[in-house]
Amino acid sequence: MEFIPSTTIYLITLLSFSMPFATSATIFDFENCEFPAIFNFGDSNSDTGGLAASFTPPNFPNGETYFDMPAGRYCDGRLIIDFISKSLDLPYLSAYLNSLGTNFTHGANFATSSSTITLPTSIMPNGEYSPFYLGVQYEQFLRFKARSQLIREGGGIFARLMPREEYFEKALYTFDIGQNDLGAGFFSMSVEEVNASVPDMINAFSTNVENIYHLGARSFWIHNTGPIGCLGYILVGFPTAEKDVAGCAKPYNEVAQYFNHKLKESVFQLRRDFSTALFTYVDVYSLKYALFSEPKTYGFELPLVACCGYGNLYNYSSGAVCGATIAINGTQKTVGSCDTPSARVVWDGEHYTEAANKFIFDQISTGVFSDPPVPLKMACHRTADLQRY
Ligand SMILES: *[C@@H]1O[C@H](CO)[C@@H](O)[C@H](O)[C@H]1NC(C)=O
Ligand SMILES: *[C@@H]1O[C@H](CO)[C@@H](O)[C@H](O)[C@H]1NC(C)=O
Ligand SMILES: *[C@@H]1O[C@H](CO)[C@@H](O)[C@H](O)[C@H]1NC(C)=O
Ligand SMILES: *[C@@H]1O[C@H](CO)[C@@H](O)[C@H](O)[C@H]1NC(C)=O
Repeated sequence: MEFIPSTTIYLITLLSFSMPFATSATIFDFENCEFPAIFNFGDSNSDTGGLAASFTPPNFPNGETYFDMPAGRYCDGRLIIDFISKSLDLPYLSAYLNSLGTNFTHGANFATSSSTITLPTSIMPNGEYSPFYLGVQYEQFLRFKARSQLIREGGGIFARLMPREEYFEKALYTFDIGQNDLGAGFFSMSVEEVNASVPDMINAFSTNVENIYHLGARSFWIHNTGPIGCLGYILVGFPTAEKDVAGCAKPYNEVAQYFNHKLKESVFQLRRDFSTALFTYVDVYSLKYALFSEPKTYGFELPLVACCGYGNLYNYSSGAVCGATIAINGTQKTVGSCDTPSARVVWDGEHYTEAANKFIFDQISTGVFSDPPVPLKMACHRTADLQRY
């Protein structure tokens, strides 16, 4: 499936005029990188078991498509980060917070579902959001970096589960966070107020990325946020919202677009400030939105309807989420899934299916959706090197 929307052509054209990079063809001349590890930061879009290890894990049918059991992911199978790991010939990332059976030789995942960039006001277990917001994820990474090396020096079985020291500089650092800052905002303030708080979210994001840079990280792969207004929990939460042609809640997506605009600006600033690193901005928004606006073109159907959920037009109810046990007319039932998750975009009203994640990964890995347009496997070259062309 070839996917080159007009916005991308525009992006590449714009790049070759406004950025000190040559055309993507020149960048393709670079050698593949050897990323020995991945360190990931984020929310449920890339959580491989952090929240599951800390609080209540997702139930079956989560995991049904790939792992044949719930695997700490809010998905029927794998996430974009899993496809990234696989394509770099690295194992699926262990969650830093998981104390059972973890192996960090090739990286660690600090993402937890329901994480935000900024300190949330409502925190689990009695509130809604993960206590492991980005500032805490950074603190955990700081500790991980120091402790893992002490453990290696100590020898024995645990030493063999830790990354080598040089991996920290050579690793790929991936980020996918912000959706819950917007989501939390929408349920507690007006759309305009959330929009007005976007610069604070981006500043906090940027500060954390900078802190990670100062710990020696050099290759950054930063996803923008998706079209939150196309997800069941927003569509059901705000039934009177104005809809666009795809049936998505327009004002909510506009705030996501503004977030992405500010995020891109901040990534450009990081690039100017630290030319010995490479900061790649990855437009997952356009791909996710394409799945909602032209599902048939890419082999999908019913894009706004959750595969695993219950009730209404969107098959999503906050009181009867995927895998929950509910009583219907006095009979206990588990909220199950649809027949063909492989043809569906949204898994549970908040998260994407493995099929959607695979589609998005296949497109972003080429570099066509990135700025600079560097393929995933080449995302280690320094901005300074790219500028020589
Ligand atoms: C940890 O993972 C690495 C890479 O997959 C593997 O080579 C190593 O044997 C694993 N360590 C243990 C103790 O299982
Ligand atoms: C968000 O704020 C920006 C900057 O003030 C403005 O250009 C944009 O129209 C706003 N968007 C929404 C949806 O309020
Ligand atoms: C529950 O019972 C009502 C009344 O008998 C019936 O109309 C409805 O279809 C039932 N709902 C389900 C999901 O079985
Ligand atoms: C909605 O979810 C139910 C499980 O509660 C599933 O059986 C059904 O197929 C889903 N509907 C659609 C249209 O996917």
